[in-house]
Amino acid sequence: MDKNQILDYLKTSDEAKLAQLWEKADRLRKQYVGDGVHLRGLIEISNYCCRSCHYCGLRREHEDIQRYRMPDDEIIECAQMAAEYGYGTVVIQAGEDFGITAARIAKIVETIKTQTPLAVTLSLGERGDDELKLWRGSGADRYLLRFETSDPDLYKKIHPQRAQTISDRIAIIRKLQELGYEAGSGVMIGIPGQTYETLANDLLLFKELDLDMVGVGPYIAHPDTPLGQMPLPDSPQQPRPTELMTYKMIALIRILCPEANIPSTTALATINKATGREFGLQRGANVVMPNMTPRKYRALYEIYPSKACIDETAQQCRHCLRGRIESIGRHIAAGPGSRTRRSKLN
Ligand code: 5AD
Ligand code: FES
Repeated sequence: MDKNQILDYLKTSDEAKLAQLWEKADRLRKQYVGDGVHLRGLIEISNYCCRSCHYCGLRREHEDIQRYRMPDDEIIECAQMAAEYGYGTVVIQAGEDFGITAARIAKIVETIKTQTPLAVTLSLGERGDDELKLWRGSGADRYLLRFETSDPDLYKKIHPQRAQTISDRIAIIRKLQELGYEAGSGVMIGIPGQTYETLANDLLLFKELDLDMVGVGPYIAHPDTPLGQMPLPDSPQQPRPTELMTYKMIALIRILCPEANIPSTTALATINKATGREFGLQRGANVVMPNMTPRKYRALYEIYPSKACIDETAQQCRHCLRGRIESIGRHIAAGPGSRTRRSKLN
């Protein structure tokens, strides 16, 4: 699929064309990654962040939120619970919090890898080569680092700190791959200032990077952030942060990166709590990330408002997701659910 075709799909509202896009994405999903849905238990271990991303509720300037760091034993307990629930992976996520030492993360990863059969994914922001290497050595399998947008100017605008550029992020993603991590990235959809062209370039960059995981979701304005104060795009010339745009992106990712693990994300579930997750899974996605963060912390990890699953417990999310997955004729997959390269299947 070339850039013009991608742009065509991103802009279309033609029902027949869309039906064809969903059908193709779902067919490729089935062919490449099957009917199993992999569950990745998400543990949000800290909401401290040293960054000032213009869209994010955890940015350091946001003083209205109570900050927390989970103690190590609580993190390990959550991971054990994920294993008991039959999830194949835990995702350890935080803001860019240098208050948790690299050695502490290494120890947590090592403990989870020794005590459980889980794959461990880290999502801890931009970190140095030494840290990434240390954690890989402790057994971390995967790392998620969204590049948020491939447009260098827009990237700069929404990441105001000196020394934060898109090329740094891409360099870190390549470093992760060199270290033997499975690497994941992604973008937000409908950020003010984004164009259809930007989204097409984002998609082509996912493919060029040969990512193992690609996660995208609608941008959701947080009123206490600089970007959240700006009007949302509402002209036909600009992509909007809608469900439809999100499904289009998920479907196009499946077509361009057919082997990738693609989540039906919480942000998507947030804008359509009734059926967003299911539609995502039917239009290219094959992964869901149930929240395992203890309830007392959940509401504090407020990247954006009205996040799905804020009042539920890990147990409730588990039941809810099983029901949703089975209701669309799919099943929960066993095992870590790493990317399988086609060459290895043949
Ligand atoms: N709306 C939607 N997604 C957001 N993220 C951060 N802020 C927002 C927002 N306001 C996403 C970013 C980040 C991930 C953890 O959450 O893509 O990488
Ligand atoms: Fe830290 Fe957004 S402000 S990730």
